[in-house]
Amino acid sequence: MPIEIVPASFMDISEILNLEKACFKKDAWTLLDLTGLFCQRNSFRLKALVNKSFAGFAAAEEIPRDKAAWIMTVGVYESFRGQGIGTALIAACEQCVSQPLMRLTVSVENEKAIRLYEQLGYKKVEIWKNYYASKRDGLMMEKTLWKSDTDSRF
Ligand SMILES: CC(C)(COP(=O)(O)OP(=O)(O)OC[C@H]1O[C@@H](n2cnc3c(N)ncnc32)[C@H](O)[C@@H]1OP(=O)(O)O)[C@@H](O)C(=O)NCCC(=O)NCCS
Repeated sequence: MPIEIVPASFMDISEILNLEKACFKKDAWTLLDLTGLFCQRNSFRLKALVNKSFAGFAAAEEIPRDKAAWIMTVGVYESFRGQGIGTALIAACEQCVSQPLMRLTVSVENEKAIRLYEQLGYKKVEIWKNYYASKRDGLMMEKTLWKSDTDSRF
Protein backbone atom coordinates (compact mmCIF):
# COMPACT_ATOMS: atom_id res chain seq x y z
CA MET A 1 0.00 0.00 0.00
CA PRO A 2 1.61 3.35 -0.97
CA ILE A 3 2.23 5.59 2.04
CA GLU A 4 2.45 9.33 1.51
CA ILE A 5 4.04 11.50 4.19
CA VAL A 6 3.06 15.15 3.71
CA PRO A 7 2.90 18.29 5.85
CA ALA A 8 -0.20 18.49 8.05
CA SER A 9 -2.08 21.78 8.28
CA PHE A 10 -4.47 23.41 10.72
CA MET A 11 -7.27 21.93 8.58
CA ASP A 12 -6.25 18.46 9.85
CA ILE A 13 -6.66 19.36 13.50
CA SER A 14 -9.91 17.49 14.17
CA GLU A 15 -8.50 14.34 12.53
CA ILE A 16 -5.35 14.67 14.64
CA LEU A 17 -7.44 15.13 17.81
CA ASN A 18 -9.35 11.91 17.03
CA LEU A 19 -6.10 10.06 16.41
CA GLU A 20 -4.56 11.38 19.65
CA LYS A 21 -7.59 10.18 21.64
CA ALA A 22 -7.52 6.78 19.93
CA CYS A 23 -3.78 6.36 20.52
CA PHE A 24 -3.12 8.01 23.90
CA LYS A 25 -6.44 8.19 25.81
CA LYS A 26 -5.73 10.07 29.10
CA ASP A 27 -2.40 11.33 27.78
CA ALA A 28 -3.81 12.61 24.47
CA TRP A 29 -3.04 16.14 23.41
CA THR A 30 -5.94 18.57 23.74
CA LEU A 31 -7.24 21.06 21.19
CA LEU A 32 -5.24 23.72 23.05
CA ASP A 33 -2.04 21.65 22.82
CA LEU A 34 -2.56 21.11 19.10
CA THR A 35 -3.37 24.75 18.44
CA GLY A 36 -0.11 25.62 20.21
CA LEU A 37 1.73 23.07 18.10
CA PHE A 38 0.49 24.64 14.87
CA CYS A 39 1.57 28.11 16.03
CA GLN A 40 5.00 26.95 17.13
CA ARG A 41 8.08 27.92 15.17
CA ASN A 42 10.84 25.30 14.87
CA SER A 43 8.27 22.53 14.64
CA PHE A 44 7.29 20.13 11.87
CA ARG A 45 3.91 18.45 11.55
CA LEU A 46 3.54 15.50 9.23
CA LYS A 47 0.60 13.29 8.35
CA ALA A 48 0.56 9.86 6.75
CA LEU A 49 -1.97 9.18 4.00
CA VAL A 50 -2.83 5.77 2.63
CA ASN A 51 -5.02 5.92 -0.46
CA LYS A 52 -5.73 9.56 0.55
CA SER A 53 -7.03 8.42 3.98
CA PHE A 54 -5.54 9.94 7.12
CA ALA A 55 -3.63 7.09 8.77
CA GLY A 56 -1.15 8.71 11.14
CA PHE A 57 0.52 11.84 12.42
CA ALA A 58 3.87 12.88 13.88
CA ALA A 59 5.39 16.14 15.03
CA ALA A 60 8.97 17.13 15.75
CA GLU A 61 10.47 20.21 17.32
CA GLU A 62 13.98 21.62 17.08
CA ILE A 63 15.78 23.00 20.14
CA PRO A 64 18.92 24.49 18.52
CA ARG A 65 20.49 25.57 21.83
CA ASP A 66 20.56 21.88 22.85
CA LYS A 67 21.67 20.78 19.36
CA ALA A 68 18.71 18.43 19.53
CA ALA A 69 15.27 17.87 18.10
CA TRP A 70 12.39 16.00 19.69
CA ILE A 71 9.74 13.75 18.27
CA MET A 72 6.81 15.21 20.16
CA THR A 73 4.16 12.73 19.13
CA VAL A 74 3.71 9.85 16.73
CA GLY A 75 0.55 7.84 16.28
CA VAL A 76 -0.98 5.55 13.69
CA TYR A 77 -4.60 4.33 13.65
CA GLU A 78 -4.74 0.72 14.84
CA SER A 79 -6.13 -0.53 11.54
CA PHE A 80 -3.08 0.86 9.70
CA ARG A 81 -0.37 -0.42 12.08
CA GLY A 82 2.36 -2.93 11.20
CA GLN A 83 2.77 -1.69 7.61
CA GLY A 84 5.69 0.68 8.09
CA ILE A 85 3.71 3.91 8.57
CA GLY A 86 5.16 4.65 12.03
CA THR A 87 8.65 4.00 10.65
CA ALA A 88 7.98 6.29 7.67
CA LEU A 89 6.71 9.09 9.94
CA ILE A 90 9.75 8.83 12.22
CA ALA A 91 12.13 8.76 9.23
CA ALA A 92 10.40 11.84 7.80
CA CYS A 93 10.78 13.68 11.13
CA GLU A 94 14.49 12.79 11.13
CA GLN A 95 14.79 14.19 7.58
CA CYS A 96 13.03 17.46 8.47
CA VAL A 97 15.27 18.50 11.33
CA SER A 98 18.78 19.92 11.07
CA GLN A 99 20.03 19.00 14.55
CA PRO A 100 22.53 16.19 15.22
CA LEU A 101 20.41 14.49 17.91
CA MET A 102 16.82 13.29 17.90
CA ARG A 103 15.15 12.60 21.24
CA LEU A 104 11.74 11.38 22.34
CA THR A 105 9.89 10.17 25.40
CA VAL A 106 7.70 7.12 25.51
CA SER A 107 5.76 5.51 28.34
CA VAL A 108 7.90 2.86 30.04
CA GLU A 109 4.92 0.52 29.59
CA ASN A 110 4.76 0.99 25.81
CA GLU A 111 6.93 -1.99 24.93
CA LYS A 112 5.84 -2.09 21.29
CA ALA A 113 6.88 1.49 20.61
CA ILE A 114 10.13 1.09 22.58
CA ARG A 115 11.01 -1.97 20.47
CA LEU A 116 10.28 -0.04 17.28
CA TYR A 117 12.42 2.91 18.38
CA GLU A 118 15.28 0.54 19.26
CA GLN A 119 15.01 -1.05 15.80
CA LEU A 120 15.31 2.47 14.36
CA GLY A 121 18.50 3.20 16.31
CA TYR A 122 17.17 4.98 19.42
CA LYS A 123 18.95 4.22 22.73
CA LYS A 124 17.40 4.32 26.20
CA VAL A 125 18.79 7.32 28.12
CA GLU A 126 16.82 7.93 31.33
CA ILE A 127 13.50 7.51 33.07
CA TRP A 128 11.38 10.54 33.98
CA LYS A 129 9.10 9.74 36.93
CA ASN A 130 5.37 10.60 36.58
CA TYR A 131 6.03 12.27 33.24
CA TYR A 132 2.61 11.68 31.72
CA ALA A 133 -0.80 13.05 32.75
CA SER A 134 -1.68 9.44 33.62
CA LYS A 135 1.31 9.51 36.06
CA ARG A 136 3.09 6.87 34.01
CA ASP A 137 6.88 7.16 33.91
CA GLY A 138 8.47 8.32 30.67
CA LEU A 139 11.53 6.78 29.05
CA MET A 140 13.72 9.30 27.25
CA MET A 141 15.44 7.86 24.17
CA GLU A 142 17.96 9.40 21.83
CA LYS A 143 19.46 8.78 18.39
CA THR A 144 22.53 10.41 16.86
CA LEU A 145 21.51 11.53 13.37
CA TRP A 146 24.94 12.88 12.51
CA LYS A 147 28.13 13.77 14.39
CA SER A 148 28.14 17.48 15.12
CA ASP A 149 31.94 18.06 15.18
CA THR A 150 33.12 16.15 12.16
CA ASP A 151 30.13 15.47 10.03
CA SER A 152 27.46 17.50 8.32
CA ARG A 153 24.52 16.42 6.25
CA PHE A 154 24.92 19.39 3.94
C1 LIG B 1 4.08 3.00 17.83
C2 LIG B 1 3.30 3.16 16.50
C3 LIG B 1 3.35 4.62 16.09
C4 LIG B 1 3.98 2.30 15.44
O1 LIG B 1 3.28 2.51 14.21
P1 LIG B 1 3.24 1.40 13.06
O2 LIG B 1 2.73 2.05 11.84
O3 LIG B 1 2.59 0.17 13.53
O4 LIG B 1 4.82 1.14 12.92
P2 LIG B 1 5.54 0.20 11.84
O5 LIG B 1 4.53 -0.49 11.01
O6 LIG B 1 6.57 1.02 11.16
O7 LIG B 1 6.31 -0.83 12.78
C5 LIG B 1 5.56 -1.67 13.64
C6 LIG B 1 6.00 -3.11 13.44
O8 LIG B 1 5.63 -3.51 12.14
C7 LIG B 1 6.78 -3.99 11.44
N1 LIG B 1 6.61 -3.59 10.02
C8 LIG B 1 6.96 -2.43 9.47
N2 LIG B 1 6.68 -2.44 8.15
C9 LIG B 1 6.12 -3.64 7.89
C10 LIG B 1 5.60 -4.24 6.72
N3 LIG B 1 5.61 -3.62 5.53
N4 LIG B 1 5.09 -5.49 6.84
C11 LIG B 1 5.07 -6.13 8.02
N5 LIG B 1 5.55 -5.59 9.17
C12 LIG B 1 6.07 -4.38 9.10
C13 LIG B 1 7.92 -3.26 12.10
O9 LIG B 1 9.13 -3.97 11.91
C14 LIG B 1 7.49 -3.30 13.52
O10 LIG B 1 7.74 -4.58 14.04
P3 LIG B 1 7.81 -4.90 15.60
O11 LIG B 1 6.39 -4.95 16.08
O12 LIG B 1 8.51 -6.19 15.67
O13 LIG B 1 8.56 -3.75 16.26
C15 LIG B 1 1.83 2.66 16.65
O14 LIG B 1 1.83 1.35 17.22
C16 LIG B 1 0.96 3.58 17.49
O15 LIG B 1 0.41 4.55 17.00
N6 LIG B 1 0.82 3.25 18.79
C17 LIG B 1 -0.02 4.05 19.67
C18 LIG B 1 0.62 5.38 19.92
C19 LIG B 1 2.02 5.23 20.45
O16 LIG B 1 2.30 4.36 21.28
N7 LIG B 1 2.92 6.10 19.96
C20 LIG B 1 4.31 6.11 20.37
C21 LIG B 1 4.43 6.65 21.71
S1 LIG B 1 5.60 7.93 21.85
